Amino acid sequence: MSSPSSKLDRNSLPAHVAIIMDGNGRWAQNRGLMRLMGHRSGVKTVKKIVTAARELGLQVLTLYAFSSENWKRPEQEVSGLMTLLKSYLENELSTMLDNNIKLRCMGRKEQLPTKVREVLDTSIRKTAGNTGLILNLALSYGGRSEIVRAARILASKCAEGTLHPDEITEDLLSAHLYSTGLPDPDLVIRTGGEYRLSNFLLWQASYAEIYITDTNWPDFSKNDFHLALENYQERQRRFGRTGDQVQKQEPL
Ligand code: FPP
Repeated sequence: MSSPSSKLDRNSLPAHVAIIMDGNGRWAQNRGLMRLMGHRSGVKTVKKIVTAARELGLQVLTLYAFSSENWKRPEQEVSGLMTLLKSYLENELSTMLDNNIKLRCMGRKEQLPTKVREVLDTSIRKTAGNTGLILNLALSYGGRSEIVRAARILASKCAEGTLHPDEITEDLLSAHLYSTGLPDPDLVIRTGGEYRLSNFLLWQASYAEIYITDTNWPDFSKNDFHLALENYQERQRRFGRTGDQVQKQEPL
C-alpha cells in the first residue's frame, strides 16, 4: 500500500505553515510522566517537523513555542521550557547552518531570560544570510499585544507628524507586526484536538486554512504533517469570492 504522503503535490504547497504545538502536557500525563517530559518529547517533534518542512521546500514554518500567557504556568514548568529552548537553539545551530535555515522570532523577546535571548540572538545573527526555510519561533508571543504594539508605533508616527492617519493601510499595519516581510500563513495546524486560536497570529491568519488533529504534539509525525498538507491541498481557497469565480481563476 502506498504511503498517504505520496499523494502530496509538491507543486502546490503552502508557502507558510504555522503550528500550535499543543498536547505536550497531556501526552506526559497519559504516561504518568511529569509535564516537562512532554515538552522534552515535543522538542524531538520540532526537529522532525523542521526537517520535513525543509525537505519539502516550504518558505516559512512558524512554531508557537511559548505564548505571552504561558508565563502564568508554574515556575518550574516555565523554567524547564526556557532550558529546553536554550539547549534546542544551542544544539540546532549547526543543523540550521548546514541546511540553509534562517531563524527568526516573533514576540516579546525582552521578556525572555538573558541566557535564552543571547543564544537566540546569536542564532538569528549567524543564520541571517541563509536563504532556505525560515524557521520563525513565536516566543512570549500574543497576537493581541502584537497588534497593539503596531498600533502604538503608527500612533507615535502620527503624533510626531511623519504619518497621516489616512495613510494607515492593512499593508502598513502588517509591516509593523513582528512578521514583517513574511507571507501570511496559508495553513495553521493545531495538534492536541482543541478548537481555538489561543491568541496566535490573529491578524496574519485571517485567511489561513485551519487543520486540527487530535494527535498530541509529541506523537505528531512527518506523515501526520504530510496528511495535514494533503488536506490543505484538497481545500478551495476562495478569499471571499464564489467557488465559480475561483474555478474560472478570476483575479483576487
Ligand atoms: C503546549 O502544550 C505546548 C507548549 C506550551 C510549549 C511548546 C514547546 C515545545 C514543543 C518545546 C520547546 C520548543 C522549541 C521550539 C524548542 P501544553 O503544555 O499546553 O499541553 P496540554 O494542553 O496537554 O497541557
